[in-house]
Amino acid sequence: MTIKVLNVFGTRPEAIKMAPVVLGLQNDPNFFPLVCVTAQHREMLDQVLSIFDIKPDFDLNLMKPGQSLAEITSRVLHGVSDVIKETKPDIVLVHGDTTTCFAASLAAFYEGVKIGHVEAGLRTGNMQAPFPEEANRSLVGRLSNFNFAPTPAAVNNLLAENISESTITKTGNTVIDALKIATDKVKHLDEDLLEHQFGTDIINKVSDKSRKLILITGHRRENFGQGFIDLCNAIKELANNHPDWDFIYPVHLNPNVQTPVNKILNGLDNVILIKPLEYLPFVWIMSNADLILTDSGGVQEEGPSLGKPVLVMRDVTERPEAVEAGTVLLVGTNTKSITNGIENVLNDDTLYNKMATAINPYGDGKATPRIIQTLTDNFS
Ligand code: UD1
Ligand code: UDP
Repeated sequence: MTIKVLNVFGTRPEAIKMAPVVLGLQNDPNFFPLVCVTAQHREMLDQVLSIFDIKPDFDLNLMKPGQSLAEITSRVLHGVSDVIKETKPDIVLVHGDTTTCFAASLAAFYEGVKIGHVEAGLRTGNMQAPFPEEANRSLVGRLSNFNFAPTPAAVNNLLAENISESTITKTGNTVIDALKIATDKVKHLDEDLLEHQFGTDIINKVSDKSRKLILITGHRRENFGQGFIDLCNAIKELANNHPDWDFIYPVHLNPNVQTPVNKILNGLDNVILIKPLEYLPFVWIMSNADLILTDSGGVQEEGPSLGKPVLVMRDVTERPEAVEAGTVLLVGTNTKSITNGIENVLNDDTLYNKMATAINPYGDGKATPRIIQTLTDNFS
């Protein structure tokens, strides 16, 4: 019997982290995988699909500029329900903590179809941070029949919520599987593609080892408004005080991010604002950065594996492992704490070298085969 798996995802990080699973299922004759993208993201999703050569069977094409949470939730719920009715899968696989993940799980639950949750069990314990992701991930944990937890801490979080041990598999995080695929491809990255993505000026700055390179990403909803203004003011202050440091910032397409970033940071000589990068060029720039400043979940996991100090602009994180290992530092969203944090790390070689030790608490790159094995054991 072949096992019909409907993989549902919609945003850039879900696509990156589900790509190895989709590719693994496609290569296993026991499975008949289907891909439904909600397109909660459009351009940023398509960038990932093309790199991993994934062609969706269903594309709900839901994204609207400035979409509200209620709008995405209801559109995903209806759209995915229809796809489930049409395809009658044995299981729906979802990923992480997005609205797509939550609403697709609810659709599967309503249709009586089993749910497998990849990257289950991460918690801050604070429903407001990350918002709404902490709620999304917790609710999906409650609905899921298979919880693929990346780390021992994630397993323990699920057990502490009385989620049955029989539903939990410790897998490692598929982000490391994806990063391995990407770093292999980056080794053979075409110079023309790099030139096309970055332009000569940026490539020259990256190669100039007398300058420091700080890579920035940010998009958290709870940081919208004053949080983003404070963050941009911190970057502006650092850029003015350190003309020999370069700041490269691929700006998330959310208008709540674009507006303050462009208003405050446009026109500074050593701050380079660019469009979101394709995954391979992004991995290339992460590998060449001296330090990463981010509020992203995925980047918090990738940075330590690449031996890059990561400063996280959040007060709490659902990914404590790298903080405990000393390669990730929480600096909050306050202007002073961000500027102090970056100056402390970049001006102190001992601290820098300690933070730049490559560690990998998020997996060994074999999360995908563990997920596939669990599904094989339970459905064959
Ligand atoms: C979403 C997820 C968040 C995840 C993040 C990854 C929710 C509630 N939020 O946040 O958990 O960490 O993606 O990046 O699920 N936009 C575009 N083109 C794109 C993508 C976004 O124009 O390719 C703009 C649109 O105006 C869109 C807006 O960004 O309406 C917001 O997108 P949305 O998915 O609602 O929120 P994100 O902040 O991207
Ligand atoms: N990323 C990318 N291009 C960029 C910025 C990030 O490909 O310009 C990748 C990054 O390597 C990571 C993922 O996108 O794998 C993280 O996505 P994001 O920060 O949007 O979401 P989060 O992980 O916070 O949910």
